[in-house]
Amino acid sequence: MSNKRSKISVIGAGFVGSTCAHWAASKELGDVVLIDINGDMAKGKALDLYEASPVEGFDSKIEGGSDYSLTANSDVVIITAGLPRKPGMSRDDLLSTNAKIVKECATQAAKYSPNSVLIVVSNPLDAMCHVAYKASGFPRERVLGMAGILDGARFRSFIALELGVSVEDIQAFCFGGHGDTMVPMPRYVSVGGIPLEQLLSKEKINAIVERTRKGGGEIVNLLKTGSAYYAPAASAVQMAEAIIRDKKRLLPCAVLLQGEYGIRDLFCGVLAKIGSKGLEGVPLLQLNIEEKAMFEKSAAAVKELVEAMAKLGV
Ligand code: LAC
Repeated sequence: MSNKRSKISVIGAGFVGSTCAHWAASKELGDVVLIDINGDMAKGKALDLYEASPVEGFDSKIEGGSDYSLTANSDVVIITAGLPRKPGMSRDDLLSTNAKIVKECATQAAKYSPNSVLIVVSNPLDAMCHVAYKASGFPRERVLGMAGILDGARFRSFIALELGVSVEDIQAFCFGGHGDTMVPMPRYVSVGGIPLEQLLSKEKINAIVERTRKGGGEIVNLLKTGSAYYAPAASAVQMAEAIIRDKKRLLPCAVLLQGEYGIRDLFCGVLAKIGSKGLEGVPLLQLNIEEKAMFEKSAAAVKELVEAMAKLGV
């Protein structure tokens, strides 16, 4: 690997974006740029974070503003810009507003960092990946969506709470779109190597699956003025780390499927191999009939949104 300092740009300096900048800088993934239409806010948050670095002891250059030229030659661009949900809204209610925002962000990001990997976080996630894919003109390897790690992290947290064991020992992921039809995969959960079915009853597992599906809404209902940001940002930064450190991690991400699982030309959450090139492979799991049906239902919900965007002309 070269000794070049890596660079991560985060578009949108709201709660998710600034928390991404915080984690990326404190993990010393590289230099960090925070961009927002409110340039002073981005500049202020970046400066504040930089001023934390002598105390916390991390060594990252951190800059902010509204001018995309600051992002030039980024290795990774995380797109968080867009409106968050309010109570009573579904992620899909954000479709046309956020599509316009994400289109602009992805166009600018691609112009200044033509070799970067884009990580889309804005909602409705899978549809916004399509927008970024189209606007950037990047190959599918370099447009990824963050949702599966977040949904999987909620799933893991709830299992850990139920069993009273460390979150570190729980492996779990979700497939499908980042919406009400997401597909938590209990059959593939491991608790320190033990299959979940050996530790919890079907009823308990079903209750955890339901709470996971509604996990984003649970936070929105508590916050009332916006949506979650710690877990979404941590998840996006885990993807950025896998890319920057070329870790070849197997992470659940939204990727453009090209025939995998019988689905074509649609972004949907699957387990993906992530390294310096972005998407480096889609290991195929054997889904049982029930999992396959739920996955297809979730993909159909994503497809509906993508078609709705086409009708809206966004
Ligand atoms: C969530 C939002 C960010 O799941 O989609 O919390």
